[in-house]
Amino acid sequence: MNIYIETYGCQMNVADSELVRSILKSVKLSVVEDIADADVIIFNTCSVRQHAEDRVLGRINNEMSRKRNKKNLKIGVIGCMAQRLDKKLNEMNSNIDFVVGVDQYKKLPEIITDLFDEDDFKCNTLVDDKEIYKDIYPIHTGKFNAFVTIMRGCNNFCSYCIVPYTRGRERSRLTADIINEITKIGEKGFNDVTLLGQNVNSYNYKNVNFAELLRRVNKIDSIKRIRFVTSHPKDLSDEVIQVMAESEKVCEHLHLAMQSGDDEILAKMNRGYTSQHFLNITKKLRKAMPNIAITTDIIAGFPGETDEQFQKTYDLMKKIQFDYAFTFKYSPRTGTKAAEFIDHLPEEIRLARLQKLIELQQDITTLKYKEQIGKIKEIYVEQVSKKSDKEMAGKSRDFKITVFPGDRSLIGKFVKVKITDAVGWTLKGELIN
Ligand code: SAH
Ligand code: SF4
Ligand code: F3S
Repeated sequence: MNIYIETYGCQMNVADSELVRSILKSVKLSVVEDIADADVIIFNTCSVRQHAEDRVLGRINNEMSRKRNKKNLKIGVIGCMAQRLDKKLNEMNSNIDFVVGVDQYKKLPEIITDLFDEDDFKCNTLVDDKEIYKDIYPIHTGKFNAFVTIMRGCNNFCSYCIVPYTRGRERSRLTADIINEITKIGEKGFNDVTLLGQNVNSYNYKNVNFAELLRRVNKIDSIKRIRFVTSHPKDLSDEVIQVMAESEKVCEHLHLAMQSGDDEILAKMNRGYTSQHFLNITKKLRKAMPNIAITTDIIAGFPGETDEQFQKTYDLMKKIQFDYAFTFKYSPRTGTKAAEFIDHLPEEIRLARLQKLIELQQDITTLKYKEQIGKIKEIYVEQVSKKSDKEMAGKSRDFKITVFPGDRSLIGKFVKVKITDAVGWTLKGELIN
């Protein structure tokens, strides 16, 4: 039986799809890379914004024609939408044959096999706040970078966010398992690992906190670069900043969601920090690591956000100068606290504010990239450039795509490149010895 997996949403979902691959392969079910070969299509889905859900539902509809031509083709939904919508998914689209929640992936082989014996809809979305998929080693599908889940779930309940409802309570993986997995990954040739969790700073297993975990991962010989997502501004401790600065493998790159620059909105979002606290952290980070790239997430048009409050977000973004910002227009999620607020803003206002933030950040990002000209950067070469086969492309430690003249033999190697230009959001450079 051939299974095809299509993944949406954040890196946690990418990592979960790799986990699911491993679970399926362990019982000799084969995972295929071409959807045309599939007997079963699994959509691993995201609920973070309405748009994310609509996209997947549209994709599932598209695949219905394939089902008409291939009578026995089965379609399943896993991930956050499975957890949130449960049986309703089958009511919304009766061509969905099975739904499996985020804590029940070990049951997937059984559910899939049963589908071919009895043709009725299958659904298992039981919550198991203890499930950490211990002893299951994911099959990493990236070429050079591997995602390693260090914790699952989230306890923060930011008022706009569906994740604590879809992913359940926070739980950390055993330190020894994480270290083992990373050591194995490194031995397989992945030089770059990204530690994953909705709030990695609250990692805690026995006496190992996130700072200590970073120290231990930094000592693993077989890997060369370490990144981690996502950090929460209320939990990013001075100790973590210090370990980042001291650990040569931890890259000068941090994603830290600001969400808003206004204290009242931050409080309404239940974020647990003020704009001043956020600003202070960025200062500390830049003091400890002058070359650090800081990226962020911002929500435009949160319920009740006034023009003045929005202006504070705009001004703080301008002041901090992020290397990049993921900007979103607020999307109400049923079941969250913010969805119950009575002061939702009209779509046009949310959209207009989003547009302003996008334009501001475009200018800042352009400037940030131009600032790199003249610098010498270490590039991990990943592939031939899309534009020319005489050029190679890779990433700097501060997560900037860099292109330079070179040949294929450099792929998978670390090289030094002098930056000569910034075109859009790509750095151009030349190899130096
Ligand atoms: N755990 C991560 C965020 C995961 S969700 C963190 O705390 O940083 C990724 C981003 O989606 C969030 O940072 C937020 O900016 C955005 N987001 C979450 N819920 C949203 C909603 N209801 N509407 C719009 N954007 C949302
Ligand atoms: Fe959502 Fe907040 Fe948890 Fe991030 S920390 S996943 S934004 S509830
Ligand atoms: Fe989306 Fe779930 Fe991640 S809602 S952002 S896939 S944790």
